[in-house]
Formats: sequence, C-alpha cells, structure tokens
Amino acid sequence: AHVWRGVLREYADRLGVTDDSTVVTLGEGGTPLLPAPALSRRTGADVWVKYEGMNPTGSFKDRGMTVALSRAVEHGAKAVICASTGNTSASAAAYAAHAGITAAVLVPEGKIAMGKLSQAVAHQGRLIQIRGNFDDCLEIARELADNYPVHLVNSVNPDRIEGQKTAAYEVVEVLGDAPDFHFIPVGNAGNYTAYSRGYREEVERGASTRLPRMFGFQAAGSAPLVSGAVVRHPETIASAIRIGNPASWQFALEEREATDGYFGAIDDERILAAQKLLSGEVGIFVEPASAISVAGLLDRAEAGVIPAGSRVVLTVTGHGLKDPQWALRNADGSEVQPTVVDAATTEVASVLELAPVA
Ligand code: F0G
Repeated sequence: AHVWRGVLREYADRLGVTDDSTVVTLGEGGTPLLPAPALSRRTGADVWVKYEGMNPTGSFKDRGMTVALSRAVEHGAKAVICASTGNTSASAAAYAAHAGITAAVLVPEGKIAMGKLSQAVAHQGRLIQIRGNFDDCLEIARELADNYPVHLVNSVNPDRIEGQKTAAYEVVEVLGDAPDFHFIPVGNAGNYTAYSRGYREEVERGASTRLPRMFGFQAAGSAPLVSGAVVRHPETIASAIRIGNPASWQFALEEREATDGYFGAIDDERILAAQKLLSGEVGIFVEPASAISVAGLLDRAEAGVIPAGSRVVLTVTGHGLKDPQWALRNADGSEVQPTVVDAATTEVASVLELAPVA
C-alpha cells in the first residue's frame, strides 16, 4: 500500500522540491473526494465533495502551511507570524511546533471558534487577541513582518497559494478530468485563487481538458467581492470567513473573469441549513464557513444555472469539530436537548418506538 507523504513530497517536481530541500510536514493533503448522492438527487448534477477537514489540523490551511514553514525554516526564520480567523493560526502553530520554531498568531478578540483557539494554545503558539477584526489583525501582521524579524505566513505569502493548488491536482487525479463547476467558500480569496491556478496548470500539462467555472461564496454580512466595496464591520456566524477586505481580492477577480466564474452571498440561516444537510444526509460534518459551498450549490441550482448532469466539486474547508456549537442548535435558535432515560432496556426501546421481535 502507498503511504501518503504530504504534498511537498507527493508533488515534489511541481513544487520545486529536491533532496536538499527542507520539508516540514504533518502528512497533509491526499484528502477524500467523496460522491454526495443526496446533493446529486437535489440538484440533478453529479456532485462530489473535497473533504479538507481531513487534513492534520482539520482544515485546508495545512497544504499551504507545509510550504510556507518549509521555506521559512530554509531561510533561517526563528519565528513566523500570521493574522487569523482561527484555522490559519491552528495550522501555523502546529507546523511551527513541528519545526521547532515560534508562531505568533493574531486573532480578533472573542471571534474565533473554541476548537481553533484550543489548537493554537495546545501547539504553543504565541496567541494574541486583538481588539479589532481580522482585517485589523492582517494589517498589524504585515507591518510586523516588514519591520521585525518575523516571517509572514498568511496567504499574501505566495508559498501558501503554491501549496493550496495541490487540492486541484488531487481532484483531477481522482476524476480523470476537471469538473464543470467548482464551488468554494471565500474569505481572503486565497483558496479560490489557488484552485483556479491549480486547475489551469492541469490543462497546461495536458492532464485535464477544461477549466472549471469557479463559483465562490461569501457570507451575506461579509461579502465585499459581491458588493464590490470593503465591508468595514463584517458580520456572520461563519467566523472563518468574517473578512471585509480580502487580501487576494484582485487575484480572485482575475480568476473569476478567466473561468467565467461567479461570486455569491449566502445568509447565515441558509449556511446553517446547508451544514445540517451535509452532516445529516451525506455524513460529512463541516464548520459553518465550509457549508457555504453546499448552500451556494443549492442556490445556483435553484437559479437554473447548473445544467443537468454537470460534474460539480464542492470544497469543504474545515472540520465540524472546530466549531461544534452550531450543530447543537435548533433552527429556532433553541438548544438541542438530548433525550435522557433511566438505565433500562425497555425505556430505550420505548423512546425508539421499537416493538419486541416475536
Ligand atoms: N473556510 C475556512 C474554514 C477558513 O478558515 C477560511 C479562511 C476560508 C474558508 C476562506 O479561505 O481566506 O483563502 O478565501 N480562513 C483564514 C484563517 C482567514 O485565518 O483561518 P480564503
């Protein structure tokens, strides 16, 4: 059996890795691409889900972080820094721990999910909560990297995008060609840019025949790419993509143009309904930001822009366990109350409405 060695070694030729290169890896990439019959039935398309929550720290960030940390260490960096809505900080802290260097992580105070916060702390990141939003954190991280001996590992670092392109390579490898449509959540639009570039490389090297139409989705309260203007006070329960001034804005516009793509906005209620559909009917548990891919597909299918039989890939970016509170909430906002009974078989059978077999 083949043992997956992480994206730098698996795609060594394409990422410029030689025997002399430094490789900091936790075994990222090689994530499942799973058919989603429940979504295919609903939309008439052939729907597949790229399950990025299966990466070592539970999000797609690991694909870019292995490259960013490897290059940072190669250049002698003793400390890396990032701004984050949570997943980047978890990933940076883990890879820095593995490399034996320091990760300083700047996060918006009180606005990142508990699972992600616990990861940054567990991996001994120098966690600093900023009284501000993600966009403020990124501005400070950039200024620090310009003026102090710390190496920036946000997706404005091109190494991050390089690594994240590998997810598109994997999709083409599994399906034998690129899909017709690719749906993806958008915050800074780094991952949108990375997939689009990865798919273009696949066409250029003759591994696929088409560029997918890149469909990116933002939360309605944080949708600058849809409105065309910076959002000063972005709001959404999908904290991972609560971003008002995307770092890769210009790149994303270019890729939308080149792929006949689309940017859409989805409100929080539909994000949570999509999360529930994916966990309950496909068996894949994702955090709210990731579920926006599913909500985006349902939205576009309803709008009649997805021809029957189209092959569609949805990237779901982060694991549901990162931010589990939303699954324990009913649609009306009340808390889910698990059933409690006495320790008696007949009690349980009664709740399950089971009759004894004759
Ligand atoms: N999904 C999840 C789960 C994310 O954590 C992010 C970004 C995105 C989607 C959007 O990706 O920014 O490349 O468009 N999270 C960053 C972070 C901002 O700090 O963890 P993008």
